[in-house]
Amino acid sequence: SQRTVNTMSIAKSEYLSNAWANGIFANRVLFITGGAGTIGSAQTRALVHLGADACIIGRNVEKTEAAAKEIAKVRNGARVLGIGGVDVRSFDSLKAAADRCVKELGAIDYVVAGAAGNFIAPISGLSPNAFKTVIDIDTIGTFNTIKATIPHLIASAARNAPNPHPSGLTGGRFLAVSATFHYTGMPLQAHVSAAKAAIDSLVGSVSIEYGPLGVTANCVAPGAIAGTEGMERLSSDLMTQREKDRGVPSGRWGTVRDIADATVFVFSDAGNYVNGTTLVVDGAGWRRQGGL
Ligand code: HXC
Repeated sequence: SQRTVNTMSIAKSEYLSNAWANGIFANRVLFITGGAGTIGSAQTRALVHLGADACIIGRNVEKTEAAAKEIAKVRNGARVLGIGGVDVRSFDSLKAAADRCVKELGAIDYVVAGAAGNFIAPISGLSPNAFKTVIDIDTIGTFNTIKATIPHLIASAARNAPNPHPSGLTGGRFLAVSATFHYTGMPLQAHVSAAKAAIDSLVGSVSIEYGPLGVTANCVAPGAIAGTEGMERLSSDLMTQREKDRGVPSGRWGTVRDIADATVFVFSDAGNYVNGTTLVVDGAGWRRQGGL
């Protein structure tokens, strides 16, 4: 539809601000689930633009491989591997993908758990299996992603000690894509709210268990982000975009760049001491629950 961002070929200004220095992720590797999605591909582009190689994981083989090819174009010499046919609900296939990433690209220094599932339904319209499906994709999928990649993140953190590394380069960083619905509760989103609350909690535990090894684990919580599949599904057709923008205290919906920039911050040398927290990037939308 009209509002969907064309993730295939977008200008640098659409996925990255001018705040960052080129090369800050040189010789580093990103492993991202949901990396062919609208937000995930912007996060990947931003890191690749700034020097990283990347491995993007998705269920759909064609979509994942096509996205990897397109993203590789943002920097000469970038290596972007697309591994399709991987469902985050399967630990074994995620582990095989992580092992392949390390074999082909040499390491996993940063992980984004971005794969998610969503639909609109009241609790009365949610079968037990519908509820379970979203918990499986979001919460169990995030657990499986952590479990499959944590040995590589520990190794990366060890290579990059002392922290902050004198070169300014970083490694050993985990970021889950959460949401803000569970701060207040959200009608028609009971399943997603529960799944994301569990993700926040899980990431907190990761930060405590692996912080002593130099790994950081955080969440980014996007608000209403324009052009995403999630907002296509969630947002009302009865309001104009101006009305929707006015519902957010900052006066507009977010962009995928807002989330990509937040990701760069958390993974950069500037984010060294940010651990076990959620960076909410929503223009204060959740405080008014008006962003939708
Ligand atoms: C009620 C529904 C439903 C709906 C599916 N189900 N859609 N129930 N209303 N609209 C039920 C099914 O009937 C079934 O239950 C169960 O959910 C599983 O459905 P399947 O189709 O078998 O599941 P699957 O093929 O695994 O697909 C998962 C999915 C699908 C979540 C349903 O939509 C998907 O793959 N989505 C991935 C992409 C996506 O959702 N992206 C948006 C992410 S946005 P029964 O009982 O019949 O067996 C996001 C952001 C949230 O997460 C926050 C925004 C700010």
